[in-house]
This record gives sequence, structure tokens and C-alpha cells, in this order.
Amino acid sequence: MIDILSTWSLVKLMLVNILILGCVRCDINWNGNNWALACDFFDNNLSNARIASNLCSERCAQTSECTHYTWTKYSDGTCWMKYGGVSKSDAVYTNDTTMICGILDTVIQSGIQWNANNSAFGCYFRGNDMSNVLIASNLCAGQCAQTSGCSHFVWTTYMGGTCWMKSGVVSESNATHTGEPSMLCGIINASSIAAVAGTTTSFGDSCTPGCGVEG
Ligand SMILES: *[C@@H]1O[C@H](CO)[C@@H](O)[C@H](O)[C@H]1NC(C)=O
Ligand SMILES: *[C@@H]1O[C@H](CO)[C@@H](O)[C@H](O)[C@H]1NC(C)=O
Ligand SMILES: *[C@@H]1O[C@H](CO)[C@@H](O)[C@H](O)[C@H]1NC(C)=O
Ligand SMILES: *[C@@H]1O[C@H](CO)[C@@H](O)[C@H](O)[C@H]1NC(C)=O
Ligand SMILES: *[C@@H]1O[C@H](CO)[C@@H](O)[C@H](O)[C@H]1NC(C)=O
Repeated sequence: MIDILSTWSLVKLMLVNILILGCVRCDINWNGNNWALACDFFDNNLSNARIASNLCSERCAQTSECTHYTWTKYSDGTCWMKYGGVSKSDAVYTNDTTMICGILDTVIQSGIQWNANNSAFGCYFRGNDMSNVLIASNLCAGQCAQTSGCSHFVWTTYMGGTCWMKSGVVSESNATHTGEPSMLCGIINASSIAAVAGTTTSFGDSCTPGCGVEG
């Protein structure tokens, strides 16, 4: 009996850890839509409205600068409208199945203009940082390609021009559209990514952006 109880306590402790400290398997089920249940977008709050969940996306679309939203049952139902560049990979899993989060269809469609080399301006990838170097933007892809484990990169004007090298398996859909034209992001040749994927460990593939410590 004592053994059963302590095993059960351990299971509960693990569950709490999974739910709160999080992200052992924090998949958000988008189900082919641009909204999902049990998810949230942090910060970037623009305004809010006490309306039903099925009106939240429409209200966001009618609100200047609103790009994405979260609906919670707070105060009989609140639509939290949010601004700024966003992608589905910015959504964080919550244990609250009454919550809804979504991105406007128009924001998803306006997307990122990828060039033939899988890079684009006005975008970034979260997390998975390996290292960085101070170099010009046109050298960043090459630097990543020559760096073991680097699969994708972001270049920003930080410190006069910084190339942030990143590991892990990503696709174009992991990139966030920032609309900030000086930023550059890109993915190195997909075949070489597959070759290094097994060697990258920093955050593991079970971790979505909410659980890694952001640099
Ligand atoms: C911002 O939005 C979240 C929902 O994503 C909400 O829980 C939070 O209370 C809001 N914060 C402020 C300061 O309004
Ligand atoms: C979600 O986790 C919080 C603790 O972070 C807990 O208070 C709450 O009851 C949980 N909600 C559900 C629906 O399990
Ligand atoms: C792709 O990369 C090659 C080699 O670095 C370069 O010559 C070419 O201009 C690039 N293409 C685009 C569309 O940026
Ligand atoms: C890229 O997106 C996919 C699907 O949303 C997700 O499973 C994967 O963890 C993301 N990769 C990274 C490195 O964030
Ligand atoms: C992509 O990587 C593979 C394996 O590293 C290599 O054989 C191939 O030539 C590369 N393709 C391009 C277009 O660079």
C-alpha cells in the first residue's frame, strides 16, 4: 500500500513537472487550422475584449495591428489581441483546454518571401542557439554551412552585425515573420541538415520554444 502510494506520488510529481516545468511533449494540435486549443502566445498584448471565443479571430482582424490572439475564460471569456511578427512555433502549450490561440489567416498567408537559397529578410528562428559571430549578413549562410551542427541561422544588426548559428531540424514553417527588413534568416541545404540532425542535442526535439531559455 505504501509502495503504491509513493509510486502514485512520484507519478503525480512527474505529471506536475511535465505540466509546469514543461515541454516533455508539448505538442499543439493545429489540425490544419490557424488556431488551436490549449495554447497561448506570451506577451505582445495589444488590447482585450470580453467576447465569446468564436468571435476572437474576427475581432483581431478588425483591430489595427492585431496579428494573433489568445482567448481565455477570464472574466466570462476574454479575447487577448496581440501584435507583432509571429509563427505557429511561437505558441506555447498550456494544460488548460479551454484556452484558444490563433494567428490571423492573412498574417500566415503574407508569409515570408523565401529566395532560392532558403533564406529571407524580415524573419527569425527562435531558440536552438549554438554560437554567434560578428560578420556581414551575406557571409552568415556560408559561416553556418561551415560550422558543424549548424542547420539554420539568423542575422541581425546587433553589435554591428551578428550571425546567430542554430542547430536542430527546422523547416520554413518554423520561421517567424518579423517584417523587420534588416533581419535575415535562413536554412542550410536540407540534405546536410539531415546528416547533422543526429548530432544536435542542445534542446532536443521534444522542446518547443516555450521551454528553452531564450537568448
Ligand atoms: C496578456 O495576455 C495573456 C493571454 O495571452 C493574459 O493571460 C494576460 O493577463 C495579459 N496580460 C496583460 C498585462 O494584460
Ligand atoms: C493547470 O496547471 C495549474 C498549475 O500550473 C493548475 O493550477 C491548474 O489546475 C491546471 N489546470 C488543469 C485544467 O489541469
Ligand atoms: C544563392 O547563393 C549563391 C551562392 O552563394 C549566390 O550566387 C546566389 O546569388 C544566391 N541566390 C539568391 C537568390 O540569393
Ligand atoms: C519546427 O516546427 C515543428 C512543427 O511545428 C516542430 O515540431 C519542431 O519542434 C520545430 N523545430 C524547432 C527546432 O523548433
Ligand atoms: C546538400 O548537402 C548534400 C550532403 O551534404 C550534398 O551532397 C549536396 O551537394 C548539397 N546540395 C547543395 C545544393 O549544396
